[in-house]
Amino acid sequence: MPEVALLGRSNVGKSSLINVLARRRSLAKTSAHPGKTTTFNLYCVDHDFVVVDAPGLGYARTSRSERDRWERELALYVRKRERLAVVLMLMDSRHAPTEVDRDTMRFVHDSGRPALIVLTKSDKLSGNARTKALSRVANAMNALAVEWPVVETSAKTGRGREELLEWVDRFVSSI
Ligand code: GTP
Ligand code: MG
Repeated sequence: MPEVALLGRSNVGKSSLINVLARRRSLAKTSAHPGKTTTFNLYCVDHDFVVVDAPGLGYARTSRSERDRWERELALYVRKRERLAVVLMLMDSRHAPTEVDRDTMRFVHDSGRPALIVLTKSDKLSGNARTKALSRVANAMNALAVEWPVVETSAKTGRGREELLEWVDRFVSSI
């Protein structure tokens, strides 16, 4: 099956997004505390593709060696996995992209994989803050000379689900 990988910092809402895609309340375990997901988990959300949930990037409270191991594994996965159709790069829409986000974007770009940016927790933003969030992401992409689709999502309201699935289907069917 084609795979769709979710990357992003701890607490950004990776596991929550899987539940949105699967229309299940707690298929993937979520937590208000960062560092919840500690292993790579594969979920079959429908009959066309598998979603891969990964530990959060740059999580400070995990031991250095554990973090290095995850990041090595993730790097290997993104570079080598034959059935990986698209990377979903999640960022919290409330915050400017961090160093970890930029490093991840650069790495995904270098891997040559198709990617989408997912701006999570959009329910927490007003109109003006939303515009700012979109332009921050556009700037970060410009700096790397990449042009990925951007989808705003909310695990609370389900916003962005259909749009995201349309993009994902497009990549999945072209692998
Ligand atoms: P790790 O497994 O630690 O890497 O975190 P994660 O990226 O899987 O985040 P998770 O899905 O566990 O969500 C973290 C927290 O953010 C939880 O308290 C979620 O309820 C909350 N959250 C996630 N998505 C949204 C969203 O779209 N809106 C709001 N308001 N809260 C969200
Ligand atoms: Mg998680």
